Amino acid sequence: MFQVGVLLLVAGFGRPPLQAQTTLPEGRGRNEFQRICGQCHGVEMAVKLRMSEDRWAGVVDDMVSRGAQGTQDDFDRVSRYLGKYFGPEAATAGKVSVNKASAKDLVAAGVPEDAAALIISFREKNGSLKSWAELEKIPGLDLSKLGAKKDQLDFTAQ
Ligand code: HEC
Repeated sequence: MFQVGVLLLVAGFGRPPLQAQTTLPEGRGRNEFQRICGQCHGVEMAVKLRMSEDRWAGVVDDMVSRGAQGTQDDFDRVSRYLGKYFGPEAATAGKVSVNKASAKDLVAAGVPEDAAALIISFREKNGSLKSWAELEKIPGLDLSKLGAKKDQLDFTAQ
């Protein structure tokens, strides 16, 4: 991670601030976020993450210690903006958590009953599943039956 960051930083020197490639939702704090957080790396580096406003505030503090420039008001607005539009619930809206849901919830989301049972017993023995690809490790699970549900499954809660 550190090396990647340094590369991004070096690539950014001597050029105007990177323009956002990502379409960011309109909202209070968006301008500050683009202006302040797009200076050393693309804003997409930040918005691929999902976390609460409190945890965003921690990231923002960390970035201030790395040299991010702005007023305390700017930083507060940025944390609030990120918590609102890139908060934990944004990632999970309308989805069922593979690692937290009961068998019943999984079935309600369209996962076949036998697959739900396999997921749960695997989870109990081996801990949480981190990605779609990890489902392949579950013996006997027919991924093709789950394929249509891919977008509804959430792996963020561990
Ligand atoms: C002065 C330069 C600078 C500014 C301005 C800056 N960052 Fe960063 N940021 C970095 C560097 C350097 C890294 C790479 C750190 C690493 O690799 O450990 C980084 C990494 C990150 C990461 C990834 C951390 C991780 O562990 O995956 C996030 C998220 C992030 N920045 C968010 C922000 C936000 C939000 C802002 C605006 C408040 C911001 N950055 C402004 C320098 C900056």
